[in-house]
Amino acid sequence: MTDFPPLKNDLILRAALGKKTERAPVWFMRQAGRYLPEFRAVREKYDFFTICRTPELAKLVTLQPIERYDGLLDASIIFSDILVVPQALGLVVEMLPGQGPYFPDPLVVPQDIDNKLRKHVNVYEELGYVFEAITVTRKALNGRMPLIGFVGGPWTLMGYMIEGGGSSTLAKAKTWLFRYPEESKRLLQRITDVCIDFLIGQIKAGAQMIQVFESWGGELSPYDFNIFSLPYLTQIADKVKTQLKQEGIEPVPMTIFCKGSWYALESLSNIGYDTISLDWTIDPAYAKAITKGKVTLQGNMDPTVLFGDHEQIRTTVRRMLEAFGTGEKYIVNLGHGILPTSDPENVKVFLEAVHKVGLELDNKTIN
Ligand code: CP3
Repeated sequence: MTDFPPLKNDLILRAALGKKTERAPVWFMRQAGRYLPEFRAVREKYDFFTICRTPELAKLVTLQPIERYDGLLDASIIFSDILVVPQALGLVVEMLPGQGPYFPDPLVVPQDIDNKLRKHVNVYEELGYVFEAITVTRKALNGRMPLIGFVGGPWTLMGYMIEGGGSSTLAKAKTWLFRYPEESKRLLQRITDVCIDFLIGQIKAGAQMIQVFESWGGELSPYDFNIFSLPYLTQIADKVKTQLKQEGIEPVPMTIFCKGSWYALESLSNIGYDTISLDWTIDPAYAKAITKGKVTLQGNMDPTVLFGDHEQIRTTVRRMLEAFGTGEKYIVNLGHGILPTSDPENVKVFLEAVHKVGLELDNKTIN
Protein backbone atom coordinates (compact mmCIF):
# COMPACT_ATOMS: atom_id res chain seq x y z
CA MET A 1 0.00 0.00 0.00
CA THR A 2 1.05 3.58 -0.68
CA ASP A 3 2.32 5.90 2.06
CA PHE A 4 -0.24 8.59 2.71
CA PRO A 5 0.03 11.83 4.71
CA PRO A 6 -1.05 11.52 8.38
CA LEU A 7 -4.75 12.05 9.08
CA LYS A 8 -5.53 15.32 10.89
CA ASN A 9 -9.31 14.87 11.23
CA ASP A 10 -10.49 11.35 12.07
CA LEU A 11 -13.88 12.36 13.57
CA ILE A 12 -15.92 10.29 11.13
CA LEU A 13 -13.81 7.14 11.63
CA ARG A 14 -14.12 7.45 15.39
CA ALA A 15 -17.88 8.04 15.15
CA ALA A 16 -18.28 5.01 12.87
CA LEU A 17 -16.39 2.80 15.32
CA GLY A 18 -18.52 3.98 18.25
CA LYS A 19 -15.79 6.07 19.90
CA LYS A 20 -16.43 9.46 21.49
CA THR A 21 -16.18 12.56 19.29
CA GLU A 22 -16.00 16.17 20.45
CA ARG A 23 -18.56 17.06 17.77
CA ALA A 24 -20.71 15.03 15.37
CA PRO A 25 -18.89 14.75 12.01
CA VAL A 26 -20.69 15.87 8.84
CA TRP A 27 -20.62 15.19 5.09
CA PHE A 28 -23.18 14.94 2.26
CA MET A 29 -24.16 12.23 -0.15
CA ARG A 30 -23.57 13.80 -3.61
CA GLN A 31 -21.49 16.58 -2.10
CA ALA A 32 -19.65 16.88 -5.42
CA GLY A 33 -22.38 17.49 -7.95
CA ARG A 34 -24.56 19.72 -10.03
CA TYR A 35 -25.59 22.14 -7.25
CA LEU A 36 -22.02 23.48 -7.44
CA PRO A 37 -21.36 25.94 -10.31
CA GLU A 38 -17.72 24.81 -10.38
CA PHE A 39 -18.91 21.21 -11.03
CA ARG A 40 -21.25 22.36 -13.81
CA ALA A 41 -18.34 24.18 -15.41
CA VAL A 42 -16.29 20.95 -15.53
CA ARG A 43 -19.35 19.07 -16.87
CA GLU A 44 -19.66 21.54 -19.74
CA LYS A 45 -16.27 20.40 -20.94
CA TYR A 46 -16.38 16.68 -20.20
CA ASP A 47 -18.82 13.80 -20.38
CA PHE A 48 -19.84 12.35 -16.98
CA PHE A 49 -18.02 9.00 -17.34
CA THR A 50 -14.93 10.74 -18.77
CA ILE A 51 -14.68 12.57 -15.43
CA CYS A 52 -15.04 9.25 -13.59
CA ARG A 53 -12.41 7.59 -15.78
CA THR A 54 -9.81 10.38 -15.58
CA PRO A 55 -8.19 10.29 -12.12
CA GLU A 56 -7.07 13.93 -12.28
CA LEU A 57 -10.60 15.09 -13.13
CA ALA A 58 -12.21 12.83 -10.51
CA LYS A 59 -9.78 14.29 -7.97
CA LEU A 60 -10.52 17.86 -9.03
CA VAL A 61 -14.28 17.36 -8.67
CA THR A 62 -14.00 15.41 -5.39
CA LEU A 63 -12.07 18.33 -3.89
CA GLN A 64 -14.50 21.06 -5.05
CA PRO A 65 -16.84 20.90 -2.02
CA ILE A 66 -13.86 20.40 0.33
CA GLU A 67 -12.29 23.62 -0.90
CA ARG A 68 -15.50 25.65 -1.09
CA TYR A 69 -16.58 24.65 2.45
CA ASP A 70 -13.05 24.88 3.84
CA GLY A 71 -12.90 23.31 7.31
CA LEU A 72 -16.63 22.56 7.46
CA LEU A 73 -16.75 19.01 5.97
CA ASP A 74 -15.38 16.00 7.85
CA ALA A 75 -15.24 13.50 4.96
CA SER A 76 -14.78 13.42 1.22
CA ILE A 77 -16.31 10.83 -1.13
CA ILE A 78 -14.56 9.79 -4.30
CA PHE A 79 -16.25 11.07 -7.45
CA SER A 80 -17.56 8.08 -9.39
CA ASP A 81 -20.90 6.31 -9.84
CA ILE A 82 -22.51 3.05 -8.77
CA LEU A 83 -23.00 2.21 -12.47
CA VAL A 84 -19.29 1.61 -13.10
CA VAL A 85 -19.92 -1.95 -11.86
CA PRO A 86 -22.46 -2.81 -14.62
CA GLN A 87 -19.91 -1.31 -17.05
CA ALA A 88 -17.20 -3.58 -15.63
CA LEU A 89 -19.57 -6.52 -16.11
CA GLY A 90 -19.73 -5.62 -19.82
CA LEU A 91 -22.83 -3.44 -20.24
CA VAL A 92 -22.75 -0.06 -21.94
CA VAL A 93 -24.02 2.77 -19.71
CA GLU A 94 -24.37 6.38 -20.85
CA MET A 95 -25.27 9.40 -18.73
CA LEU A 96 -27.78 11.52 -20.62
CA PRO A 97 -27.69 15.17 -19.54
CA GLY A 98 -30.85 16.08 -17.61
CA GLN A 99 -32.20 12.50 -17.88
CA GLY A 100 -29.80 10.25 -16.00
CA PRO A 101 -28.37 6.81 -16.78
CA TYR A 102 -29.23 4.97 -20.01
CA PHE A 103 -28.33 1.38 -20.96
CA PRO A 104 -28.78 0.94 -24.75
CA ASP A 105 -28.67 -2.88 -24.43
CA PRO A 106 -29.93 -3.94 -20.98
CA LEU A 107 -30.54 -7.49 -19.71
CA VAL A 108 -33.91 -8.70 -21.01
CA VAL A 109 -34.04 -12.48 -20.47
CA PRO A 110 -32.07 -14.72 -18.07
CA GLN A 111 -29.91 -16.07 -20.95
CA ASP A 112 -28.51 -12.54 -21.18
CA ILE A 113 -26.58 -13.19 -17.94
CA ASP A 114 -24.34 -15.49 -19.98
CA ASN A 115 -24.69 -13.74 -23.34
CA LYS A 116 -24.19 -10.11 -22.38
CA LEU A 117 -21.98 -10.19 -19.27
CA ARG A 118 -18.26 -10.90 -18.96
CA LYS A 119 -17.65 -14.34 -17.44
CA HIS A 120 -14.79 -13.14 -15.24
CA VAL A 121 -14.30 -9.56 -14.17
CA ASN A 122 -10.82 -8.47 -13.22
CA VAL A 123 -11.56 -5.29 -11.26
CA TYR A 124 -7.96 -4.14 -11.59
CA GLU A 125 -8.33 -4.15 -15.39
CA GLU A 126 -11.90 -2.82 -15.62
CA LEU A 127 -11.99 -0.42 -12.66
CA GLY A 128 -8.32 0.39 -12.12
CA TYR A 129 -9.14 4.02 -12.94
CA VAL A 130 -11.25 4.25 -9.76
CA PHE A 131 -8.37 2.86 -7.69
CA GLU A 132 -6.00 5.38 -9.24
CA ALA A 133 -8.47 8.23 -8.61
CA ILE A 134 -8.70 7.17 -4.95
CA THR A 135 -4.92 7.10 -4.52
CA VAL A 136 -4.30 10.53 -6.10
CA THR A 137 -7.25 12.09 -4.29
CA ARG A 138 -6.19 10.77 -0.90
CA LYS A 139 -2.72 12.22 -1.47
CA ALA A 140 -4.17 15.57 -2.50
CA LEU A 141 -6.42 15.63 0.58
CA ASN A 142 -3.19 15.65 2.54
CA GLY A 143 -4.81 14.19 5.66
CA ARG A 144 -7.46 16.93 5.93
CA MET A 145 -10.17 14.25 6.30
CA PRO A 146 -10.84 10.61 5.38
CA LEU A 147 -11.78 9.57 1.83
CA ILE A 148 -14.89 7.41 1.42
CA GLY A 149 -15.16 4.77 -1.31
CA PHE A 150 -18.48 3.23 -2.38
CA VAL A 151 -20.38 0.65 -4.38
CA GLY A 152 -24.03 0.10 -5.33
CA GLY A 153 -26.04 -2.61 -3.59
CA PRO A 154 -26.50 -5.76 -5.77
CA TRP A 155 -30.30 -5.43 -5.97
CA THR A 156 -30.08 -1.76 -7.02
CA LEU A 157 -27.49 -2.60 -9.69
CA MET A 158 -29.58 -5.53 -10.94
CA GLY A 159 -32.50 -3.11 -11.17
CA TYR A 160 -30.56 -0.70 -13.39
CA MET A 161 -29.16 -3.51 -15.53
CA ILE A 162 -32.65 -4.80 -16.35
CA GLU A 163 -34.63 -1.54 -16.41
CA GLY A 164 -31.93 0.11 -18.52
CA GLY A 165 -32.19 3.32 -16.51
CA GLY A 166 -34.37 4.92 -13.86
CA SER A 167 -37.86 3.52 -13.31
CA SER A 168 -40.84 4.38 -11.14
CA THR A 169 -42.13 0.82 -10.70
CA LEU A 170 -39.14 -1.44 -11.43
CA ALA A 171 -41.69 -3.63 -13.23
CA LYS A 172 -39.11 -5.36 -15.46
CA ALA A 173 -36.58 -6.09 -12.69
CA LYS A 174 -39.30 -7.29 -10.33
CA THR A 175 -40.73 -9.52 -13.04
CA TRP A 176 -37.36 -11.31 -13.00
CA LEU A 177 -37.60 -11.80 -9.22
CA PHE A 178 -40.98 -13.48 -9.43
CA ARG A 179 -40.64 -15.33 -12.76
CA TYR A 180 -37.00 -16.32 -12.58
CA PRO A 181 -36.03 -16.28 -8.88
CA GLU A 182 -33.12 -18.70 -9.27
CA GLU A 183 -31.61 -16.85 -12.25
CA SER A 184 -32.14 -13.58 -10.37
CA LYS A 185 -30.11 -14.97 -7.48
CA ARG A 186 -27.42 -16.08 -9.90
CA LEU A 187 -27.25 -12.55 -11.30
CA LEU A 188 -27.21 -11.01 -7.81
CA GLN A 189 -24.33 -13.31 -6.89
CA ARG A 190 -22.35 -12.31 -10.02
CA ILE A 191 -22.81 -8.65 -9.11
CA THR A 192 -21.97 -9.28 -5.44
CA ASP A 193 -18.68 -10.99 -6.33
CA VAL A 194 -17.60 -7.95 -8.36
CA CYS A 195 -18.72 -5.54 -5.60
CA ILE A 196 -16.57 -7.42 -3.05
CA ASP A 197 -13.43 -7.36 -5.22
CA PHE A 198 -14.10 -3.73 -6.11
CA LEU A 199 -14.38 -2.64 -2.47
CA ILE A 200 -11.25 -4.53 -1.47
CA GLY A 201 -9.41 -2.81 -4.34
CA GLN A 202 -10.71 0.60 -3.22
CA ILE A 203 -9.52 0.01 0.35
CA LYS A 204 -6.10 -1.13 -0.89
CA ALA A 205 -5.95 1.99 -3.06
CA GLY A 206 -6.57 4.23 -0.03
CA ALA A 207 -10.31 4.41 0.76
CA GLN A 208 -10.63 4.91 4.53
CA MET A 209 -14.33 4.16 4.83
CA ILE A 210 -16.89 2.45 2.57
CA GLN A 211 -20.56 3.06 1.84
CA VAL A 212 -22.89 0.61 0.10
CA PHE A 213 -25.82 2.35 -1.67
CA GLU A 214 -28.86 0.05 -1.87
CA SER A 215 -30.95 2.95 -3.20
CA TRP A 216 -33.80 0.72 -4.41
CA GLY A 217 -34.05 -1.35 -1.21
CA GLY A 218 -37.40 0.21 -0.34
CA GLU A 219 -38.95 -1.02 -3.59
CA LEU A 220 -38.98 -4.56 -2.15
CA SER A 221 -41.45 -5.96 0.37
CA PRO A 222 -39.83 -6.97 3.68
CA TYR A 223 -40.19 -10.63 2.63
CA ASP A 224 -38.50 -10.13 -0.74
CA PHE A 225 -35.85 -7.84 0.76
CA ASN A 226 -34.78 -10.79 2.95
CA ILE A 227 -34.38 -12.97 -0.14
CA PHE A 228 -33.04 -10.62 -2.80
CA SER A 229 -31.14 -7.91 -0.94
CA LEU A 230 -30.15 -8.72 2.64
CA PRO A 231 -28.13 -11.92 1.95
CA TYR A 232 -25.97 -10.10 -0.61
CA LEU A 233 -25.45 -7.04 1.59
CA THR A 234 -24.44 -9.46 4.37
CA GLN A 235 -21.93 -11.20 2.11
CA ILE A 236 -20.38 -7.87 1.13
CA ALA A 237 -19.70 -6.79 4.74
CA ASP A 238 -18.59 -10.24 5.73
CA LYS A 239 -16.30 -11.11 2.82
CA VAL A 240 -14.69 -7.68 2.49
CA LYS A 241 -13.70 -7.74 6.16
CA THR A 242 -12.64 -11.41 6.21
CA GLN A 243 -10.55 -11.21 3.05
CA LEU A 244 -8.76 -8.07 4.18
CA LYS A 245 -7.93 -9.63 7.54
CA GLN A 246 -6.60 -12.74 5.77
CA GLU A 247 -4.28 -10.48 3.80
CA GLY A 248 -3.14 -8.72 6.98
CA ILE A 249 -4.92 -5.46 6.08
CA GLU A 250 -7.02 -3.67 8.71
CA PRO A 251 -10.67 -3.45 7.53
CA VAL A 252 -12.19 0.05 7.35
CA PRO A 253 -15.62 1.10 8.73
CA MET A 254 -18.52 0.21 6.44
CA THR A 255 -21.86 1.99 6.07
CA ILE A 256 -25.07 0.62 4.57
CA PHE A 257 -27.65 2.96 3.04
CA CYS A 258 -30.90 1.16 2.15
CA LYS A 259 -33.23 3.88 1.01
CA GLY A 260 -36.84 3.17 2.01
CA SER A 261 -36.06 -0.04 3.90
CA TRP A 262 -37.20 1.18 7.32
CA TYR A 263 -38.52 -2.32 8.04
CA ALA A 264 -35.01 -3.76 7.73
CA LEU A 265 -33.35 -1.54 10.34
CA GLU A 266 -33.02 -4.28 12.91
CA SER A 267 -31.63 -6.83 10.42
CA LEU A 268 -29.24 -4.26 9.02
CA SER A 269 -27.85 -3.60 12.50
CA ASN A 270 -26.81 -7.28 12.79
CA ILE A 271 -24.96 -8.04 9.55
CA GLY A 272 -21.51 -6.55 10.08
CA TYR A 273 -21.87 -2.89 9.03
CA ASP A 274 -20.55 -0.29 11.46
CA THR A 275 -22.93 2.46 10.37
CA ILE A 276 -26.47 2.64 9.01
CA SER A 277 -27.37 5.65 6.87
CA LEU A 278 -31.02 6.61 7.32
CA ASP A 279 -33.37 8.28 4.87
CA TRP A 280 -35.52 11.13 6.14
CA THR A 281 -38.69 9.08 6.63
CA ILE A 282 -37.20 7.41 9.70
CA ASP A 283 -37.65 9.03 13.10
CA PRO A 284 -34.30 9.26 14.95
CA ALA A 285 -35.80 7.99 18.24
CA TYR A 286 -37.27 4.97 16.44
CA ALA A 287 -33.95 4.18 14.73
CA LYS A 288 -32.08 4.44 18.03
CA ALA A 289 -34.58 2.19 19.82
CA ILE A 290 -34.52 -0.49 17.11
CA THR A 291 -30.74 -0.58 16.62
CA LYS A 292 -30.00 -0.42 20.38
CA GLY A 293 -26.61 1.26 20.06
CA LYS A 294 -25.15 -1.65 18.06
CA VAL A 295 -24.28 0.61 15.13
CA THR A 296 -23.54 4.27 14.43
CA LEU A 297 -26.42 6.13 12.76
CA GLN A 298 -25.96 8.54 9.86
CA GLY A 299 -28.42 11.04 8.42
CA ASN A 300 -31.07 12.11 7.89
CA MET A 301 -32.42 15.59 7.11
CA ASP A 302 -34.85 15.77 4.21
CA PRO A 303 -32.70 17.22 1.37
CA THR A 304 -35.52 19.61 0.44
CA VAL A 305 -35.17 21.43 3.78
CA LEU A 306 -32.21 23.09 2.03
CA PHE A 307 -34.84 24.87 -0.09
CA GLY A 308 -36.14 26.56 3.08
CA ASP A 309 -34.83 29.83 4.53
CA HIS A 310 -31.77 30.04 6.77
CA GLU A 311 -33.77 30.06 10.01
CA GLN A 312 -35.71 26.97 8.96
CA ILE A 313 -32.47 25.15 8.14
CA ARG A 314 -30.94 26.07 11.52
CA THR A 315 -34.05 24.98 13.44
CA THR A 316 -34.18 21.65 11.61
CA VAL A 317 -30.47 21.02 12.24
CA ARG A 318 -30.94 21.68 15.96
CA ARG A 319 -33.94 19.36 16.16
CA MET A 320 -32.04 16.62 14.31
CA LEU A 321 -28.91 16.87 16.45
CA GLU A 322 -30.91 16.92 19.67
CA ALA A 323 -32.83 13.84 18.55
CA PHE A 324 -29.77 11.79 17.53
CA GLY A 325 -27.56 13.11 20.33
CA THR A 326 -24.08 14.18 19.23
CA GLY A 327 -20.72 13.06 20.58
CA GLU A 328 -21.22 9.36 20.04
CA LYS A 329 -22.38 6.98 17.32
CA TYR A 330 -23.73 9.71 15.07
CA ILE A 331 -22.68 11.16 11.71
CA VAL A 332 -24.62 14.10 10.28
CA ASN A 333 -25.82 13.79 6.68
CA LEU A 334 -28.96 14.22 4.60
CA GLY A 335 -31.48 11.43 4.09
CA HIS A 336 -30.43 11.18 0.41
CA GLY A 337 -28.16 13.09 -1.99
CA ILE A 338 -28.15 16.89 -2.23
CA LEU A 339 -30.57 17.92 -4.98
CA PRO A 340 -29.07 19.73 -7.99
CA THR A 341 -31.23 22.82 -7.40
CA SER A 342 -29.92 23.36 -3.84
CA ASP A 343 -28.36 26.76 -3.16
CA PRO A 344 -24.66 26.34 -2.20
CA GLU A 345 -25.13 29.20 0.29
CA ASN A 346 -27.86 27.23 2.12
CA VAL A 347 -25.56 24.22 2.21
CA LYS A 348 -23.05 26.42 4.03
CA VAL A 349 -25.71 27.58 6.51
CA PHE A 350 -26.46 23.90 7.20
CA LEU A 351 -22.79 23.06 7.78
CA GLU A 352 -22.21 26.06 10.05
CA ALA A 353 -25.28 25.17 12.09
CA VAL A 354 -24.07 21.56 12.47
CA HIS A 355 -20.74 22.80 13.86
CA LYS A 356 -22.30 25.39 16.18
CA VAL A 357 -25.09 23.20 17.57
CA GLY A 358 -22.84 20.12 17.72
CA LEU A 359 -20.25 21.83 19.91
CA GLU A 360 -22.95 23.42 22.06
CA LEU A 361 -24.71 20.10 22.73
CA ASP A 362 -21.47 18.28 23.48
CA ASN A 363 -20.36 20.92 25.97
CA LYS A 364 -23.72 20.53 27.66
CA THR A 365 -23.18 16.75 28.00
CA ILE A 366 -19.68 17.23 29.43
CA ASN A 367 -20.64 19.93 32.01
O1 CP3 B 1 -21.67 11.58 -3.48
C1 CP3 B 1 -20.78 12.03 -4.23
O2 CP3 B 1 -20.50 13.24 -4.31
C2 CP3 B 1 -19.94 11.04 -5.00
C3 CP3 B 1 -20.40 10.76 -6.30
C4 CP3 B 1 -21.64 9.94 -6.57
C5 CP3 B 1 -22.35 10.11 -7.78
N1 CP3 B 1 -23.28 9.13 -7.85
C6 CP3 B 1 -22.11 11.16 -8.76
C7 CP3 B 1 -23.15 11.50 -9.75
C8 CP3 B 1 -22.24 8.90 -5.88
C9 CP3 B 1 -21.91 8.34 -4.48
C10 CP3 B 1 -23.26 8.37 -6.71
C11 CP3 B 1 -24.07 7.21 -6.35
C12 CP3 B 1 -25.22 6.84 -7.17
N2 CP3 B 1 -25.35 6.91 -8.54
C13 CP3 B 1 -26.41 6.27 -6.65
C14 CP3 B 1 -26.65 5.93 -5.20
C15 CP3 B 1 -27.05 7.12 -4.41
C16 CP3 B 1 -28.44 7.60 -4.70
O3 CP3 B 1 -28.55 8.75 -5.18
O4 CP3 B 1 -29.39 6.86 -4.44
C17 CP3 B 1 -27.27 6.05 -7.73
C18 CP3 B 1 -28.67 5.45 -7.66
C19 CP3 B 1 -26.59 6.43 -8.93
C20 CP3 B 1 -27.07 6.34 -10.32
C21 CP3 B 1 -27.19 7.67 -10.93
N3 CP3 B 1 -26.10 8.46 -11.29
C22 CP3 B 1 -28.35 8.39 -11.27
C23 CP3 B 1 -29.77 7.89 -11.05
C24 CP3 B 1 -27.97 9.60 -11.84
C25 CP3 B 1 -28.84 10.66 -12.49
C26 CP3 B 1 -29.71 11.37 -11.59
C27 CP3 B 1 -28.99 12.29 -10.63
O5 CP3 B 1 -29.30 12.25 -9.43
O6 CP3 B 1 -28.15 13.07 -11.08
C28 CP3 B 1 -26.55 9.65 -11.80
C29 CP3 B 1 -25.72 10.75 -12.25
C30 CP3 B 1 -24.74 11.34 -11.31
N4 CP3 B 1 -23.97 10.64 -10.44
C31 CP3 B 1 -24.44 12.72 -11.21
C32 CP3 B 1 -23.44 12.83 -10.23
C33 CP3 B 1 -22.75 14.08 -9.81
C34 CP3 B 1 -25.02 13.83 -12.07
C35 CP3 B 1 -24.82 13.52 -13.52
C36 CP3 B 1 -24.38 14.67 -14.37
O7 CP3 B 1 -23.48 15.42 -13.99
O8 CP3 B 1 -24.91 14.72 -15.49
